[in-house]
Amino acid sequence: MAQTNHNISIESPSGWKDYEIIDSGDGYKLERFGGFIMSRPEPKALWSKSMSDTEWKKLAHTVFHPGAGFGKAGKEDVGTWEMLKKMPERWFIEYKGADRQASEWSAFRHGIPESGGLFLKLRLGLTSFKHVGVFPEQASNWDWIYSHTRKGFKVLNLFAYTGGATLAAKCAGADVTHVDSVKQVVSWAKENMTSSGLDNIRWIVDDALKFVKREIRRGNVYNGLILDPPAYGHGPDGERWKLDELLFEMLEECSKIVAKEHSFVVLNLYSNGYSALLADTLLKKAFGECEGREYTCGELALEDKFKKVIPLSVFARMFTK
Ligand SMILES: C[S@@+](CC[C@H](N)C(=O)[O-])C[C@H]1O[C@@H](n2cnc3c(N)ncnc32)[C@H](O)[C@@H]1O
Repeated sequence: MAQTNHNISIESPSGWKDYEIIDSGDGYKLERFGGFIMSRPEPKALWSKSMSDTEWKKLAHTVFHPGAGFGKAGKEDVGTWEMLKKMPERWFIEYKGADRQASEWSAFRHGIPESGGLFLKLRLGLTSFKHVGVFPEQASNWDWIYSHTRKGFKVLNLFAYTGGATLAAKCAGADVTHVDSVKQVVSWAKENMTSSGLDNIRWIVDDALKFVKREIRRGNVYNGLILDPPAYGHGPDGERWKLDELLFEMLEECSKIVAKEHSFVVLNLYSNGYSALLADTLLKKAFGECEGREYTCGELALEDKFKKVIPLSVFARMFTK
């Protein structure tokens, strides 16, 4: 039997006070974000719930009910939140990097650490797409980005959403450019920057591929590239994004704006059932292998309190010394 040598890891955030999955099953997950608990659809929870429906209902502040467009392209996940208990429309959760010892966090001023470190304070809200403004499994990517970013690195975050990865790079002292095609999402990311006690991020509302092509023409080079592309999307001028058609072109274009040394790339994929090995091969083919360049890949997963593990996305990462 021929074996290939791949370094595949499974990563989950641990010891996160403001987030946990309590239970999962029957197509739903029961999660706590700070002080509030919600039940929302999770297509990967193919198993049965460990707790009873009555227990779920007793715990949850709100339940998301998918509408008629659920699962249909263009209308994905549109639905409504049924309020079971009083909760605010907007609230905050904090994330403190995995590398920080509890003692290091004792010297807080207004909730924001004075001595730097990876600290995010993210504003959450209930959206009609079942999302709340953060993908908690991404915390492992935030930790990795934080620990591989040096002060003064130029980092570009594409498909950057509400900015978790943007802020992680900023916490490490990078000059960060955040690109997303949706203006409201970029405004949300700006709020997260302010609440996290950070400033001075370059905000761009644009089509990600168009922006990269423009950066190639301008001769701009980045030390860090972060990409978390959806299956389908649109640029602000109607530019069409389709993952299976454009991903490799996007990565090849990105290879033209990454520094030859002291650089990293993080590719995260959560749709089309793509595997970690696929992400790994894509990254290696686009960025090439050379002395001092390391690749790793794996899955980001979350575990509920009954030890049922939900795989939520895959990643491949490149790091050049
Ligand atoms: C699911 S999010 C990525 C999650 C994010 N990286 C995080 O962990 O917080 C995908 C993002 O891609 C954006 N998007 C979709 N099509 C785009 C395009 N053509 N150019 C730029 N951004 C796009 C969406 O607005 C959305 O915010």
